[in-house]
Amino acid sequence: MGLLPAGLSCACEGLAARLPWWAGLPRYGEGARPGGVSIEYVRGSPIIRKRRRKPARGCAGPRRRRLYRLSRPLTARSTVAHHLITGGGGFVGSHLTGALLARGDTVTVLDDLSTGSPANLRHLRGHPSLRFVQGSALDAPLVGDLVGGCDAVVHLAGGETVLDAARRHGRKVLVGTDDHAAAFSAGETPRGETYRTEKDLLVVVARLFDVAGPRQRDEHLVPRLIRQALAGADLVLPGDGSQTRCLTHVRDVVEALTLLLDEPFALGGIFDVGADDGVSVLELAKAIVELAGSPSGITFHGGAPEPGFRVADASRLRALTGWRPRRDLDEILLDTISEARVR
Ligand SMILES: NC(=O)c1ccc[n+]([C@@H]2O[C@H](COP(=O)([O-])OP(=O)(O)OC[C@H]3O[C@@H](n4cnc5c(N)ncnc54)[C@H](O)[C@@H]3O)[C@@H](O)[C@H]2O)c1
Repeated sequence: MGLLPAGLSCACEGLAARLPWWAGLPRYGEGARPGGVSIEYVRGSPIIRKRRRKPARGCAGPRRRRLYRLSRPLTARSTVAHHLITGGGGFVGSHLTGALLARGDTVTVLDDLSTGSPANLRHLRGHPSLRFVQGSALDAPLVGDLVGGCDAVVHLAGGETVLDAARRHGRKVLVGTDDHAAAFSAGETPRGETYRTEKDLLVVVARLFDVAGPRQRDEHLVPRLIRQALAGADLVLPGDGSQTRCLTHVRDVVEALTLLLDEPFALGGIFDVGADDGVSVLELAKAIVELAGSPSGITFHGGAPEPGFRVADASRLRALTGWRPRRDLDEILLDTISEARVR
């Protein structure tokens, strides 16, 4: 495309915009997809093939490929999809619920309200396409029913029960993890790696980094510092304030999750979702004091510094979906401060 004259290149791009969404995607056999997944089109419907390892030398029998025909065609943007969101009453889940409803999808939220709150979904109460189920993501019969009744699952509540049900019902499941934390606990295998290699599981793993924004619980760093700033108290920083955070606005995170839900080639992949530029906790505290117009000072509670925070590498997500965070630190903080003022 880069070799074409500018006018012709524009005409081609115009044509590309009118082609079906899958026209530019590589066909089956045109290259490995993440997680050994490839897609073949049969009468216009995408069929997912999960490649299996070659049988060991000398093994008899034909080499088989496992076929998954999804209950509905996977499209870059499903027309109307029904999503089950476990943990949909929490911080990230409630924003995702709102975004999916806003684009016309149906959402069932399963939440035991252990850390979430009905207040997070208050603005959506009475929405005809929202169903809230109070219950546990570990309750196998309940989870089985709900997973069987939806098209895709977003799992933000932890536990393996949901994954077992998704496997049984052949549903795609997008799992939000904090796997990067495992990098600091010696000997722990990141959960995403385990899920990705599980047989017959149509999984996409989103490794969430420092998500921030309205509705986050007060024990997290940003809302805690904002609460101190609004109360005019000193902002108490962990360690010496030099450790970095890569904060991402929850709305940017929701956009990334939505893109991953819609993207058939995301299957079997692990994607970092987060900003790739860090800010020190001290800089963060200074920005909060300034944006909140607060008279607060800043103190350090010393002790051992927090474990370092890895900066997200969102290049894989960007290459597949074009995602990048669009909201900067000021917007994250201003949105969170405005919400904290009226809470
Ligand atoms: N917020 C972040 O910065 C961040 C960073 C990394 C990873 N994550 C991961 O993303 C997910 C969501 O994070 P969040 O910040 O929205 O947390 P949150 O605590 O606000 O939301 C989690 C929700 O899950 C519900 N829940 C927990 N256990 C449940 C169970 N067994 N059955 C049903 N519901 C249950 C809680 O009541 C809550 O509503 C979590 O898995 C978390 O580990 C978040």
